[in-house]
Amino acid sequence: MAHLYVTWPLSTARLLFVAAVFVAALVPTVWATEEPAPYNYGFDVHEQLSRRSLKPYNPNTPFVVSGIASGSQQGSNKPKVYPRQEVREMEKNADLWTLYILGLSMMQYTPQSQLLSYYQVAGIHGVPWVEWNGVAPKSGSENTGYCTHVSELFLTWHRPYLALYEQILFSLVEYIASLYKNETERARYQAAAAQFRIPYMDWAAQPPTGESVLPNSVGSSPYVKITGPNGVQRIANPLYTYMFKPLNTTMFIENPYDLWVTTVRSPTTQDASAGSNNTAVSLALNQNFQSIQQRLYTLFSNYQNFSTFSNEAWIPTSSSDNYDSLESLHDTIHTLTGLQGHMAWIPFSSFDPIFFLHHCMVDRVFALWQILNPESWVMPTKAVLASYTTSEGEIQDSQTALTPFYKSANGTFWTSDDIRDMGVLGYTYDDMMDFPRSSLLATNSTTQGQVGALINRLYGSSSPATLGIINSEGYKRSDSSDASGPAQPLGLAGPHHAPSSVVVNNVYREWVANIHAPKQALNSTFFVDLFLGGSQVPAGDPSAWAYSPALVGTMSVFASPSGLSMAGMDMSGGHTSGVVPLTSALAQKVASGELASLDPEAVEPYLHQFLHCGVVTTGGTEVAPHDVPGLGVTIVSSRVEVPTSAEELPRWGVVTDHFDLV
Ligand SMILES: *[C@@H]1O[C@H](CO)[C@@H](O)[C@H](O)[C@H]1NC(C)=O
Ligand SMILES: *[C@@H]1O[C@H](CO)[C@@H](O)[C@H](O)[C@H]1NC(C)=O
Ligand SMILES: *[C@@H]1O[C@H](CO)[C@@H](O)[C@H](O)[C@H]1NC(C)=O
Ligand SMILES: *[C@@H]1O[C@H](CO)[C@@H](O)[C@H](O)[C@H]1NC(C)=O
Ligand SMILES: *[C@@H]1O[C@H](CO)[C@@H](O)[C@H](O)[C@H]1NC(C)=O
Ligand SMILES: *[C@@H]1O[C@H](CO)[C@@H](O)[C@H](O)[C@H]1NC(C)=O
Ligand SMILES: *[C@@H]1O[C@H](CO)[C@@H](O)[C@H](O)[C@H]1NC(C)=O
Repeated sequence: MAHLYVTWPLSTARLLFVAAVFVAALVPTVWATEEPAPYNYGFDVHEQLSRRSLKPYNPNTPFVVSGIASGSQQGSNKPKVYPRQEVREMEKNADLWTLYILGLSMMQYTPQSQLLSYYQVAGIHGVPWVEWNGVAPKSGSENTGYCTHVSELFLTWHRPYLALYEQILFSLVEYIASLYKNETERARYQAAAAQFRIPYMDWAAQPPTGESVLPNSVGSSPYVKITGPNGVQRIANPLYTYMFKPLNTTMFIENPYDLWVTTVRSPTTQDASAGSNNTAVSLALNQNFQSIQQRLYTLFSNYQNFSTFSNEAWIPTSSSDNYDSLESLHDTIHTLTGLQGHMAWIPFSSFDPIFFLHHCMVDRVFALWQILNPESWVMPTKAVLASYTTSEGEIQDSQTALTPFYKSANGTFWTSDDIRDMGVLGYTYDDMMDFPRSSLLATNSTTQGQVGALINRLYGSSSPATLGIINSEGYKRSDSSDASGPAQPLGLAGPHHAPSSVVVNNVYREWVANIHAPKQALNSTFFVDLFLGGSQVPAGDPSAWAYSPALVGTMSVFASPSGLSMAGMDMSGGHTSGVVPLTSALAQKVASGELASLDPEAVEPYLHQFLHCGVVTTGGTEVAPHDVPGLGVTIVSSRVEVPTSAEELPRWGVVTDHFDLV
């Protein structure tokens, strides 16, 4: 996709031209004419794999999730923990990237009947509702997946889940490296393989100038050219889609999912011929970028309690503070990357390979947050929803088994306490390499300052909060408003820096829409879209709202298909809450002179007139907000003290209610 990187001077005509080229570049045109295929090693690689017993799976003893044994580092007496990298960084290392793509492709083409196939590992999360690794369901909970949502265990459950995926990929990557025939090359690939860890996709940091939030490697082509042990070949891009072999139509019962033999993002049609429209996904992530970045920044600065930070179990009596959660922000990314496709449904989402890039980012955010709040941890909490091995109402705590992930062959499962230090699973993150592992468990103010600086630099650029530290040492905001730089892709403006007038005496006012709704209110995933400007929601197709230029942000309610709830699961208990931040958009109105200030006297009447709410289901049906049972949207604000050093984060005051929009 070389033309995406061409640098032109910025002008409107050029911008539109670049946008058009970008859109054209992402549309799959060859899918129908060429069969997607895995790499041809010159022999039956899966037969070899099962004979070599790469990772011996003995049906009489369970498969144990060990993460990546640090022992792989031969000759070194100090175990080395390698970092998970941002996917664009990893791509710069050609050898490692080749092994990752080949390894993921090999996992995806492992027969679905095998325990360690991509199909079965993805299937742990939601459908198909079958036992994995011999871990039986709890009576009454057979019709759901193992994953825990709206739960105190949401973050900790996904940690060994990712470690399992990483462990399988690691062993495939090591095997593939061993297949290079040239000794020099083999040694090089094996050295790269020893450092392999899964990548994450940072959906909240400003992408490199001229690029979209959705990396090209993930969305731009269904094919990828790769130099493997058997020469250069063009193979199916394993980051673009997963192809079912075969599709189980009894589990993907929701029409048209029962027709789609590949996972799709923003499907191009509703019939079996559907492909992915990653352009629409890219536009949706770009348009929501400011909102997503502000949400993450606020989660780091204003959420100090693990229970409220981690998951979205909404407590109706709680205050107007802390309406958001990492789970709720994660839901929004799920639905924006799926739009009308697999990522937008809880039980189907894990089959799309972007799922693991996304969850790895969620785990990284969790780890960074742990350093800021090492004392706050899983508290005994009633489960709001059932999972395959637990029932609704059960008390979950830090010793609850994270099933089906065995820690030992003797039948012990991992618990939240076991994985509090992620290092036990053999990984760290690229920007946490210098931090001692002990800072995940006990306060280390040096490390906390370093994390604060990282958060200000990566996620603070759209907040007025960083105005106070612009000239601080150690703070450099990502700035791509340079007019001579490459044009930005459609929907993604450079950082919207707030005008300095909004900060008075080191304080400004933050504006937020607090949103809550029952998870199954519409028996479908749905988007709550907020628009600023004009006199109503945009005209035209509501499924394009996610990337309407008037959109301030989306809060999504991530749900399960009604067909599945009718199969016997009661999912009515889950309530979800989240936010759409308004501050960055309002600060732009102050900059343009449309709004006098961020003070309530100016903002309240402005929002009354110009803020509009639209609701659309993942199927594209518009629903009047008042017709969504239990939906509430309330405008709130808080005084926020700006940091005065690059290591500090902003400090929020008391959150006060202004008015109900819905
Ligand atoms: C499809 O899923 C159902 C329910 O989990 C299961 O009983 C059946 O064996 C699956 N079929 C295939 C071909 O995997
Ligand atoms: C092996 O690869 C190296 C580096 O690519 C190359 O210099 C060398 O000629 C190759 N050896 C053989 C026998 O092909
Ligand atoms: C993909 O989505 C974009 C944005 O809505 C649209 O302009 C384009 O026509 C779509 N392409 C296909 C093939 O559906
Ligand atoms: C954290 O939040 C939960 C849920 O609101 C509450 O029960 C708990 O007391 C809080 N913990 C602390 C330390 O404030
Ligand atoms: C099972 O193995 C774990 C880890 O090796 C050990 O800590 C535990 O005591 C063992 N439990 C039993 C019941 O043997
Ligand atoms: C705190 O972290 C710093 C590095 O960020 C490290 O040098 C120092 O040893 C740590 N302190 C403690 C008590 O672990
Ligand atoms: C959603 O499904 C539940 C259970 O099947 C049903 O009781 C409820 O009426 C449905 N709600 C809507 C809005 O369709």
